[in-house]
Order: sequence, then structure tokens, then C-alpha cells
Amino acid sequence: MKNKAWGGRFKASQTTEFLEYGASIGFDKKLAEFDIIQNMAHAHALKKAGILKPHELNKVLKGLKSIFGEIGKGTFRFSVADEDIHMNIERRLKEKIGPLAGKIHTGRSRNDQVATDVRLYVRENSRKIAALLIQLQKAFLAQAEKTVDDFMPAYTHLQQAQPVRTAHWHLAYLEMFRRDEARFAAVAESANISPLGSGALAGGNFNLDREYRAKLMGFAGVTQNSLDGVSDRDFALEFCFAVSVLFVHLSRLAEELIIYSSSEFSSVVLPDEFCTGSSIMPQKKNPDLLELFRGKSGRTVGNLMNLLTILKGLPLAYNKDMQEDKIPVFDSAEQALMALPLAAQLVKKMKFNKRLLETRLDEGFLTAVDLADYLVMKGLPFREAHHIVGAVVKECEEFGISFGGLNLADLKKHSPLFGRDVLKTLDPKLSPDRKKGTGSTAKAEILKQIKRLKKEF
Ligand code: ARG
Repeated sequence: MKNKAWGGRFKASQTTEFLEYGASIGFDKKLAEFDIIQNMAHAHALKKAGILKPHELNKVLKGLKSIFGEIGKGTFRFSVADEDIHMNIERRLKEKIGPLAGKIHTGRSRNDQVATDVRLYVRENSRKIAALLIQLQKAFLAQAEKTVDDFMPAYTHLQQAQPVRTAHWHLAYLEMFRRDEARFAAVAESANISPLGSGALAGGNFNLDREYRAKLMGFAGVTQNSLDGVSDRDFALEFCFAVSVLFVHLSRLAEELIIYSSSEFSSVVLPDEFCTGSSIMPQKKNPDLLELFRGKSGRTVGNLMNLLTILKGLPLAYNKDMQEDKIPVFDSAEQALMALPLAAQLVKKMKFNKRLLETRLDEGFLTAVDLADYLVMKGLPFREAHHIVGAVVKECEEFGISFGGLNLADLKKHSPLFGRDVLKTLDPKLSPDRKKGTGSTAKAEILKQIKRLKKEF
């Protein structure tokens, strides 16, 4: 077993099928750039400890740099015989600089090596996703700025509820994606400590400066227990969770826009760029991109369940099961990185149907709460006021009219407290600005939010 780095203790060779089954290079090649960065930091520490001479360090760094170039150009030959990305890079280093390459793994195990690479991957991708989330928020902010003076019915139970300024709807989604941004920033911080130096599980026999290596890789600190250092994948779970929540948000947005863009609603016109036609029905314009966001949320939630299930029941420290961690983590990262720029484009280009939405404001008794509150302001307890307005709505339904069809005499039959000033209470466009307090749909509040957000981005 000379051809395997670990082959010394074996009499018989492993079967080809088993080796292929166990190789992770097919997917962990995505760690290549992080493995090179780690190797460089490790090499510096080996020199600091006197294990590499200065000229040897230079040779190792030069070799690693040229491997980095090959990977970037796509000329690097990934080989299944070398199992994983770590062994592939070490093999290539040996091809380039000879037996000196054999010193690079001193004082390190693939267990702390892979844990370090995955942390670097999660940190980098969390930061990238957080940056893309700012772009998506900006798209909602731009829409909000354009729709401060537009109105739409807002829903509960998907039944018309109260009128809001359309900007308010956009700012609601902005808040969701803002929380996602904060979540990814927090995941980047979780990932931002170095397990390198944990060795196989017990730490290393050489005086390799852990803090120094961590600093070279931009980590904020080092893990505090070597057994835990190689076992811990909480940061990866947090990453998959953050992607799941992000996709739940994208999926909710998608569902709402799919409904709004249906012919029955026609509240929103989706950009052609992100819809497709039907191969048989010439009239169709299907909201494919949104449906894919909704559908792929299943995949990202699946990735979280996948990783939770892999980790559940694993004893300390490294177990080969953990090789499977990369598949859900990589897939979740890629799904988020692909979806977010598309989502920002779609949000930028979609159009709310301002005129139709305004006509709809008169349909659903949207100012019923305002009418009840009118009576409260005249001194009636809210529960009684609620009952009276309920009776007004019932009567309107019987006559097939909306609030707009009522006059003062109709209302006075229900309560003597209704006075001349009640008619403007029924106007749905006057309702939003009556709302008080931070976060309401009143124009002044929306303008305040927009101003604050513009300063923050
Ligand atoms: N390819 C392995 C993984 O991704 C690297 C760690 C291997 N460690 C070991 N003890 N076999 O998990």
C-alpha cells in the first residue's frame, strides 16, 4: 500500500469500488482555494517552529501559489485516487517540489485541516450572501421610494384587511431580508475561529503557534478544546439554517407575488425577463423564477435536515460521516448565491398596478377599523363600536354596496354618535396617515424609515 499516504499498516489493498465510494474529491474540490490558504499559513508556522528552513518555506509557498494558479485556470488534475482535496494538493505539491512536500503535513491532521477549510468556506460565503442581501434590500427600498403615495389593500388570511401605502409592503420585505443579512453576519462570526492545531483530536507535538496561524488566515481567535475543535460543525448548521430561513422568506415573497400576478388579482406585473411561456397555450406568462424560489426552499430546508441528521449521534471526535457535511453546506451556499441577484433584479423590475389597486380599496370595507375607532373617539367602548360597524357591514352586503355607497342618514340608523365628519373616516386613502407610532403605514413614518435606511446603505 505504498500509493496511499496512510498505506503503511495495510497488507491488502482496498477495492476500487470502495475507494471510489469513499473519495470526496468530486465535491470537496470546492475547498481548493481555502486549503491552499491554510497550507500557506501552516507552512509559515512550520518555519517559525524551525521545521522548515527559510528557503524551504519559499519553495513550498511558490509551489502552493502555482497550484493555486492551476486551479484558477482549470488545469489542475483532480484525482479520485488521491481521495480528497487535501491529498490532491499535497500530491501536486510533491510533483512540483519533491519530497519536501512531505513536511507540509507535520503537526496537522486532515481532521483539523478539513474543519479549518470548511470554516473558511462558510465565513467567506456568509459574507458574500450578506452583501447580496444588501442589494436585495436596496431593490425594495427603491420600490418603496417610488410607491410612497400609492395605496393597496393589505391582507390577513388572504382576505382584504386594511389599506396601506404600497411602500409599506416593500419595506416589510426589506425588514425580512435585513434580518437575514444580520443572521449571515452572525454565522460568519461563528465560523471565524480556527481549529487548526487541534490535530487529530489531542493537539500537536510541535510548537506550532495556533494564534499565529489563525491570524494569517484572518480568524478572530482559536477554538478552545481540541476534541471539540475537530468535531464541531455548529457553524455549518447555523449556515444551513440561515439559508433555510432566507429561502423561507424568498418562498413567502414568491407565493405572494404569484398570487398578486394571477389574472384574478392582477395587482402586480412581473418582468417578462423572469417569466416563461407555455409550449401549447400561447397566452401564458408563467412566474417560473418565483416558483423556483418556492420550490428550492424545499431543497435548502432539506440540506439543514441532512446536516442535522448527519451530526446527530456522532461521538467525539472526527467520524467519516462528517465528510458528508460539505454536500448540504455547498449546495445551500450555491443556491443562495444564485437566487439573490435574480431576486434583486425581479424586485427592481416588477410593477404594482397602481390604478387597479386603488379601485380595489373601495371593495373590502377596508376602513371598518377606522369607523369603529371613530365611535370610540366619541366615547363608546371599542367592543360596542366593533359590533355596530359589523352591523353596518352586514347591511352593506345585503344591499350589495360598499362603504362608499353610504350616506350619513344610513349610518345614523346604527348610532346617533355618527356625525358629518364620519364620511372622511370612510375614505380608504385617508386611513394610512391616521396610523400612529414607529413602523406604521402613515406617510410621515414611511418617509422617516426610508430616510434612515438610505443613510444606512
Ligand atoms: N475528506 C475528509 C472529510 O472531508 C477529510 C478528513 C479525513 N479524515 C480522516 N480521519 N479520514 O471529512
